[in-house]
Amino acid sequence: MILYFSGTGNSRFVAQQLATLTSDEATAVSLSVPYSPLTLSPTGRVDCLGIIFPVHAWGMPLALERYIKNTDFSRFNFTYIYTVCTCGDDVGTCATDIRKHLRQKGWILDCMWSVQMPNTYVAFPFFDTDSPELVRMKLERAHSRLHHIAEAINQRKRGLYDVHPGRFPWIKSHVLRPLFNRFLLGDKSARADGTCTHCKTCVNVCPLHNIALNGSGFPEWKGQCTTCLACYHNCPHHSIEFSRFCHRKGQYTFLRAQAKLSSTPSHPR
Ligand SMILES: Cc1cc2nc3c(=O)[nH]c(=O)nc-3n(C[C@H](O)[C@H](O)[C@H](O)COP(=O)(O)O)c2cc1C
Repeated sequence: MILYFSGTGNSRFVAQQLATLTSDEATAVSLSVPYSPLTLSPTGRVDCLGIIFPVHAWGMPLALERYIKNTDFSRFNFTYIYTVCTCGDDVGTCATDIRKHLRQKGWILDCMWSVQMPNTYVAFPFFDTDSPELVRMKLERAHSRLHHIAEAINQRKRGLYDVHPGRFPWIKSHVLRPLFNRFLLGDKSARADGTCTHCKTCVNVCPLHNIALNGSGFPEWKGQCTTCLACYHNCPHHSIEFSRFCHRKGQYTFLRAQAKLSSTPSHPR
């Protein structure tokens, strides 16, 4: 059983690829509170749990952390548990923190991997989407890394924590992350400008069902946001601002990048 959360599609892609390569089934978790019960198709493997997510502020997205804590998995008997996180750059002490977090559920994390994917965080100065060349490079590398990860999963390897912590990992996960979660997480500053055409794309793509159109047809955020930026990146008119720092910065979704990649030949090496 593979459970995943994804804002802009990177982690969905990873989950779907790994499902194919490990003969498993990927299910998107519903993070809207109250949590909907886990429904599984009979084809999903229930001895093995994979959790796939984007790194948010050098850790697991808070909404996913709460989901795992509050969901009752007692009817499953997992004999193998792994996580794969996707990140733009690095993950801090995410691996150690998640192992501790899962231990509170009585779970032992057998393996964890990070996969570098195109960056989606744009709501702070100096953060923007990657250049087209970097997007291409990251996606090409991700494909071969996923084969390597799937092989380890199929062999039920244990004790492998192959993540990229980056520089000053403890400071990132234990000083900057709490500050991020305290001051930058959520939808307090989210708004659509006058270019909004009331198309409802933001409503439809929000994985937390946290957006509705108000009486004037503009999106309103309902306070449950986990800042995945799906609304910002998917808006066809680039009308959404998530903070005053992300005005007209780049937009990225996995599906658009993949389509672009398959329509342009790669550079000769
Ligand atoms: C709120 C937020 C915080 C992020 N924090 C980090 C981070 O700490 N380290 C990192 O390398 N990438 C970070 N990223 C980038 C994402 O982890 C990365 O682009 C991921 O692949 C997005 O996955 P998704 O398309 O499944 O949502 C962040 C993105 C968002 C939206």
